[in-house]
Amino acid sequence: MPAVLRAFVFGNPMSQPALPPESLAFALQRAAQALEAVQNGTALPAALTQATQSAPAGIRPAAQDLAYRAVRRLGSSRALLAILVKPALQARVRDILLCALALLQDPPENAAYTDFTVVDQAVEAVGAQRRTAAAKGLANAVLRRFLRERDALLAEVAQQPEARWNYPAWWIDAVRTAWPESWETLLEAGDTRGPLTLRVNTRRLAVDGMLKLLTEAGMAAEVVGPAALRLAAAVSVERLPGFAEGLVSVQDAGAQLAAPLLGVTDGMRVLDACAAPGGKTGHLLELADIDLLALESDRTRVPRIHENLERLGLTAKVKIGDAGNPDKWWDGEPFDRILADVPCSAAGIVRRHPDIRWLRRAQDIPALVGEQQRILAALWRTLAPGGELLYATCSIFPAENEAQAQWFERACPDAVRLEAPGQLLMTPGGAHDGFFYARFQKR
Ligand SMILES: C[S@@+](CC[C@H](N)C(=O)[O-])C[C@H]1O[C@@H](n2cnc3c(N)ncnc32)[C@H](O)[C@@H]1O
Repeated sequence: MPAVLRAFVFGNPMSQPALPPESLAFALQRAAQALEAVQNGTALPAALTQATQSAPAGIRPAAQDLAYRAVRRLGSSRALLAILVKPALQARVRDILLCALALLQDPPENAAYTDFTVVDQAVEAVGAQRRTAAAKGLANAVLRRFLRERDALLAEVAQQPEARWNYPAWWIDAVRTAWPESWETLLEAGDTRGPLTLRVNTRRLAVDGMLKLLTEAGMAAEVVGPAALRLAAAVSVERLPGFAEGLVSVQDAGAQLAAPLLGVTDGMRVLDACAAPGGKTGHLLELADIDLLALESDRTRVPRIHENLERLGLTAKVKIGDAGNPDKWWDGEPFDRILADVPCSAAGIVRRHPDIRWLRRAQDIPALVGEQQRILAALWRTLAPGGELLYATCSIFPAENEAQAQWFERACPDAVRLEAPGQLLMTPGGAHDGFFYARFQKR
């Protein structure tokens, strides 16, 4: 009998009694599956899609919440598990326990579930699959011991930097070396949840007008930039008034600095060289009637640019191409403005993407630095004399930022460095993520 038919007749061979899809145990299983994929190198959003695609609709928010909490606490949960269980665990058991330990570390005022519920449901999750069921007693013993010895265990693991800060050791060292005065604040800030910030399409609506729409919808918000509104509480985008109609986009206040820095005016030829998912593409088009080419090398990310443009009712030429190889996509007509929002470590946006710290490796940074230089050097020759290029990253590592700007000034004698914000660092509860901006004009 084919496996699919067998599963249909006899149920999933991996499952013991099926868990109710609305149970915490079910969500824990799916979150653990996503966590395993992250530890094997998959980005968390993609890992969650894989882990929830065969599950009933509506399971994703619960699994997502658990997986994000688990990734934020991965350093401390791993250290706790290493004390609590000596023999190596099967990956799925390990990851259900990591998810449960993350929940049990939440301070009471933040706790999503009672300790009893977490232990009970984690044990259920382990017991519900044939391949993990034998570890049900062990899971129960581990989590109960954690609850009995919680304070002592947390104090013990806090001695290890990875557990204390919930970042890999190399990352902690890199931040401490780069920012000896503020490294602890930076690590802490990166471990908080970023606010939901909107960019108002000021072509269509004033910021005050949007604030009024939000207030009428019962959503408190404050102005944190020329077009930026920070919501007091996150909501799903579908609930935002005017989102579907393109009145607002979701964009961090720091990212909203990029497009205005380019000083675009009607009729300019503009290149957005690393464009997907198109956040800054949309912003540039909201600011002036420009002739914009949005370039992106990853064809799987290009549909997101089209979706964003369509929602905003804006148009641009969109091409798939390597910014480092203009011969393949450039028509030879120089650009007046270039936005080089280059691929980077993304170390500045860890509060929104807590998986990044576990996915990156120390050796990625020099590789990214080389790629950023290749792209910058190639783009420079497509810029018109008198034209301006904005180099942007969402990183807080100087090798990708100030060091690159200085390298570029040295490498290109016809580049004049203009005023720009330089390095923006995130702060706990702060309005923006970590970004870097350097601006150059061609003589
Ligand atoms: C930081 S993201 C850009 C974010 C975008 N500007 C926005 O505001 O929504 C960098 C993008 O550059 C793309 N990319 C990486 N290498 C590239 C290359 N050589 N040429 C063009 N795009 C590239 C990545 O796939 C990614 O989509």
